[in-house]
Amino acid sequence: MPKLVLAYSGGLDTTTAIKWLTLEQGYDVIALNIDVGKSREQPVVESRGMAAGAVKVRVIDGKEDFIRYFAFPALAAGAVYQDAYPLATALARPLLAKLLVDVAHEEGATAVAHGCTGKGNDQVRFDVGIMTLDPSLKIVAPTRENAMAREYQIEYLQKHGIDIPWGQKGPFSIDENLWGRSAEAGVLEDPWQEPPAEAYEWTRSAEDAPAEPAYVEIGYEHGMPITLNGEAMSAVEMVEHLNELGGVHGVGRIDHIEDRLVGIKSREIYEAPAAIIFHTAHRALEAMTLSKQQIKLKKYIAQEYAELIYNGLWFSAHHQDIAAYVASTQRHVSGTIRVRLQRGTATVVGRQAKESLYDRALATYDRGDTYDQSAAVGFINIWGLQTRVQARQQLLGQLPEALKIAMPREDA
Ligand code: ARG
Repeated sequence: MPKLVLAYSGGLDTTTAIKWLTLEQGYDVIALNIDVGKSREQPVVESRGMAAGAVKVRVIDGKEDFIRYFAFPALAAGAVYQDAYPLATALARPLLAKLLVDVAHEEGATAVAHGCTGKGNDQVRFDVGIMTLDPSLKIVAPTRENAMAREYQIEYLQKHGIDIPWGQKGPFSIDENLWGRSAEAGVLEDPWQEPPAEAYEWTRSAEDAPAEPAYVEIGYEHGMPITLNGEAMSAVEMVEHLNELGGVHGVGRIDHIEDRLVGIKSREIYEAPAAIIFHTAHRALEAMTLSKQQIKLKKYIAQEYAELIYNGLWFSAHHQDIAAYVASTQRHVSGTIRVRLQRGTATVVGRQAKESLYDRALATYDRGDTYDQSAAVGFINIWGLQTRVQARQQLLGQLPEALKIAMPREDA
């Protein structure tokens, strides 16, 4: 039988897919589980995959690669989709697509499969990634092609002698990895309804968080985190540590309405303590080390970067171009940021950088001022020149009119 590599989570959808691809589509299924952190099915993937009829189950630890080559570059870029979503799910997909293609080559498979539905972004990210990396591979999406309700999936598996205690269906659709947890569906579909406490798993509510703050110092080099509280750690350790600490202090909850690529608006609840803390600190370090022009353009580029990640264009020339720009901006973004975590907030309270552009001697109102205040007069004379000329030539006779811009309610 032809071989197929399936992206296997160990959940009901992809377990059913193993059986369906084998019986209905005639494939030898190699179930590929990629550990990007936090998956609750992780311990059972091997036994479940084999029970469902996979010819082989392969487990790859993708955690370090995920953080180093996907999450941290997105952090350095400041990529946050629609000013809210740090892109956890979206960043993991291109890694999964890449490994699916690699394993397909190693195993001599002619097809790959994933468990995405036809309504979301993930199908796009998988499909575009795979077809870019190897256009000869056939892509099968069992859930999209043959959506089966949960009861039927369980029945289908039982009919074929696979009896797994699936337990109660959770109230939400969950996806999690080290960079964040996402919850959607169920009561969350009512955008007026406050998320129930069960929607959150990684973070305490602000009320339940300790009143005492915690402080953390994050060391960055060229925009990438390298130390926590002065201690060098692996990328994964740093993220795990901040998820834990931030979660205890109620940091990292996000509730927003998001625009999917396929045109649907959806209500998403995210928890991403580490991502939020890292982004907050990184922004503060850039404020110290980038010029105002660099900050302004980079903000625009960050949005573009977030969109290309969200929209499944990781493996693209556009990404290569933007990544080169971002890397260039990060040459001097090195230093340490101190953050206070308290009752749902992550606040930057201290910053230092060797190549800081902040010059206390220029900023100070105390002794030691090196700024020449008398030079300001000439500067203002030139800076205000156009405005003065325009006022004299065009506006002077109608000053009350001009003032309406500033105070339109005056005579409304
Ligand atoms: N909306 C997010 C995205 O497209 C997360 C989707 C995660 N899936 C889920 N079943 N919760 O990246």
